[in-house]
Amino acid sequence: MATQTLTIEQRLENAKAALTKADQSQVLKFIDELTDEQKDQLLGQIESVDWVEVTRLVQSHVLNTPEFKKPDSIEPAPYLPRIPTKDLADQYKQAKKHGEKLLRDGKVAAFTVAGGQGTRLGWNGPKGSYPATAIRKIPLFCCFAEFIRKAEQKFNTTIPWYIMTSPINDAATRAFFEEHGNFGLRPDNIMIFPQGMMPAFDAKTGKALLESPDTLAMAPNGHGGSIKALYTSGAVADMKERGIEQLSYVQVDNPLVKVIDPLFIGLHAQANAEMSSKALPKAYAKEKVGVFCKVDGKTTVIEYTNLPDELAEKVDDKGELVYKGGSIAIHVIATDFIERINTQEGGFALPYNRADKKVAVWDEANNVTIKPEVANAVKLETFVFDALPMCSESVILETDRIEEFSPIKNADEEGALDCPATCKQGQTERAARWLQTAGVIIPRKEDGTVDAVIELSHIKAIDPEDLKDLDLPTEIDAGTEVLI
Ligand code: UD1
Repeated sequence: MATQTLTIEQRLENAKAALTKADQSQVLKFIDELTDEQKDQLLGQIESVDWVEVTRLVQSHVLNTPEFKKPDSIEPAPYLPRIPTKDLADQYKQAKKHGEKLLRDGKVAAFTVAGGQGTRLGWNGPKGSYPATAIRKIPLFCCFAEFIRKAEQKFNTTIPWYIMTSPINDAATRAFFEEHGNFGLRPDNIMIFPQGMMPAFDAKTGKALLESPDTLAMAPNGHGGSIKALYTSGAVADMKERGIEQLSYVQVDNPLVKVIDPLFIGLHAQANAEMSSKALPKAYAKEKVGVFCKVDGKTTVIEYTNLPDELAEKVDDKGELVYKGGSIAIHVIATDFIERINTQEGGFALPYNRADKKVAVWDEANNVTIKPEVANAVKLETFVFDALPMCSESVILETDRIEEFSPIKNADEEGALDCPATCKQGQTERAARWLQTAGVIIPRKEDGTVDAVIELSHIKAIDPEDLKDLDLPTEIDAGTEVLI
């Protein structure tokens, strides 16, 4: 029965029953002190949680830490090289053409997961509102919008953009888009929807925590939540209506990512793959990225924390890492795949992962919410790459760091990686690489890095081939800032 038709009292009775069974009645501790509006809010949160699943997860993931069981059959997953070998050249040519045709025919959409909390960056607002580019300082969302606008113009098409937020940043994200006139895109081609949430649990007792008397401490359920949220939000139905066959999945934190890559889309579609991925060769054995493996013949990402050292460090005759393909969270997903696993009998479930975090909790004695100094809670998240083993077919394509990976994850500080400063360098390096191929002379320091700051707008170029239509300088002067 829909909750709207129930009275607050009836909803409270239902909540009590579910919570008693789950041994989580403490979340109703202050219920008698709440106004009807506050009760409605707390009950709404309680009703959004699957307390039967919670009971199981508290045992397996909160009170205990699940152990990774090394699979019996494991080998590295092969991936297609970034630059095609002679025998692959024709296949790549055809695939790129096919990807471009899918774009022209309006069968491709962009998808950005932006539901994370971005705590490491310390930015007060949705991560997508972070000023990311080297010179203009345009926000991450604007980088993606410019990419989409250029691709729409280049392929004379419409590319709908789906964006997953969380209930925590959904309103702020919508407001940001509105404030910025949807970054020049048509609002009816943008669909913003929130992902699901999971309660945070006290690490010692396994009890769900209250942030305040009328609010459960909850966190987004991981980017794996996108596979369900795409379906339940109506995004998949919208895609079907528009004839969208492929979804290009990117994370909100990487302004260099190719939001739409015809070659990757084409390789995936021509292989009839359900979900495909880009891989970045690991820089060193223990780099903190998930690794593409074949487990019992199925493409699988094993998190670096779980990959046994002897595999992570294993080298071949030439001294090359055997388990080399790192996952950087770039995928193409077939609309049919999302529909298939959401509608299959028995549904589908991605495994949960435990993360120990500092979670603000209600301090009853002092009537205040307190932020702890050390991790006090367990959050549970699913990962989108755990859908890979459910695919009938899956393609992995190599990319490289300069071309498309310079995420903004951490705040700037001495020695920090994946931060605004390294991203600014990354943007400059890629722009320089592209400009150099177009004949522009680039000033370089002794260590080989570019001696300038260059921002190449996506509105101008989303691929080096786009530079041929531009009026470019013959040379960039050392020490200057250049916006193209
Ligand atoms: C992730 C990957 C890592 C990869 C790296 C590349 C995992 C476990 N790790 O790491 O293998 O090398 O990206 O940059 O995925 N998000 C949501 N909802 C959530 C949680 C996250 O939408 O509930 C989104 C974020 O907004 C962001 C992306 O997912 O766009 C990545 O989240 P984050 O937690 O920062 O991943 P990393 O730990 O950096």
